[in-house]
Amino acid sequence: MSSLSPLLDGYDLSELRLPNRVVMAPMTRSRAPLHGRPTEMMAEYYVQRASAGLIVTEATNVSPVSAAFDLTPGIFTAQQIDGWRFITNQVHAAGGRIFMQLWHSGRVSSFALLGGEAPLSPSGVNDDLEQLQVWAQLLNGQYTRIHATPSRAMSPGEVKLTIDAFRQAAANAIDAGFDGVEIHAANGYLPHQFLSSTTNTRDDRYGGSVANRANFLRDILTEIGTVISLDRVGVRVSPYAHYNNVRDADPDRTYDYVGKMLDEFGVAYIHAADTNGWSGQPDLPRIVDRMRRVYSGTLMVNGGISVEAAETLVRDGQADLVAFARAYIANPDLVGRIAADAPLAVPKPTGWYGGGSAGYSDYPFEISVGNSVQSGVAQP
Ligand SMILES: Cc1cc2nc3c(=O)[nH]c(=O)nc-3n(C[C@H](O)[C@H](O)[C@H](O)COP(=O)(O)O)c2cc1C
Repeated sequence: MSSLSPLLDGYDLSELRLPNRVVMAPMTRSRAPLHGRPTEMMAEYYVQRASAGLIVTEATNVSPVSAAFDLTPGIFTAQQIDGWRFITNQVHAAGGRIFMQLWHSGRVSSFALLGGEAPLSPSGVNDDLEQLQVWAQLLNGQYTRIHATPSRAMSPGEVKLTIDAFRQAAANAIDAGFDGVEIHAANGYLPHQFLSSTTNTRDDRYGGSVANRANFLRDILTEIGTVISLDRVGVRVSPYAHYNNVRDADPDRTYDYVGKMLDEFGVAYIHAADTNGWSGQPDLPRIVDRMRRVYSGTLMVNGGISVEAAETLVRDGQADLVAFARAYIANPDLVGRIAADAPLAVPKPTGWYGGGSAGYSDYPFEISVGNSVQSGVAQP
């Protein structure tokens, strides 16, 4: 019986008190059809999950030239900021805490999602476009994979503008009421593309040595640090991920360096995503082992981790926080279920990306926030 589950212990994330160690992992759900403006349905979905120790939102575009998935929200217009403010107010009123995941998809995109513009990337490496995951919704409502189209190398000026976009996005997120932000430096998106020796062949201060390849992430953190405290900024990395084909020649060397750098910055947490783990090839032990050697701050882990495995990771001190993604699709009340040792519902195969409330905010739940427990079925 898991009423003694270590996942239910509180945790101080810098100044933010988390009531438990269970994090809702970032999940793109593609339900922002109007110029990336979040909707009331999204608010309902996040509120249903407010009992998580921390919610990390779906990846949210920092600029109009970022989108690997159609219908994803942004945080660069006043309307988007207003839409998110509605959501953070509701989540806080329900007793929750919420960080925004900041996203630039870089080369993982298509002109079809970028108003006809070519995707931007560190070096215009385009030998593997068929391996990049780009998705869009057809007029008939079906959400489907589309071709990535060739990216072009960013000029030094464009690198600077993109770093500025991250800073502005972080400031906008705080303006919208978020408790913090998470930089998406995992899964083959732009910061990851800069870190990787195969997708970054630049010969300026952003390419070459590991230290130079880390400069893009370093400069993003330095800039964000001018507008918010870095103990409210988490960073998601996925050192060995095959997803979106980053092919780093020496990920151990790269991520030993990145882990040390993030330790020096004093970020809120490292979110180590075992992206190969969701497809049954776990790398989690080696990720944890290496990160713990170079990084002394809060370690959040994710990727194919069962509740039982999460309990062991936290009990043994290997991880401080565990993020669950797919479990949160069908179990808005995941924390309550862990407390009650109740079985987890299995997500339906439909409704993961795009569409309405079906497969999104219509899963039965029993919210347990603070001392009050409410049961219910989400209203469509
Ligand atoms: C529907 C869906 C959307 C996802 N979107 C994102 C995302 O926006 N950002 C991100 O970093 N990871 C994203 N992921 C990856 C998850 O955060 C997580 O790493 C992965 O699902 C493995 O965790 P799990 O085994 O707990 O599901 C997504 C996964 C799913 C299933």
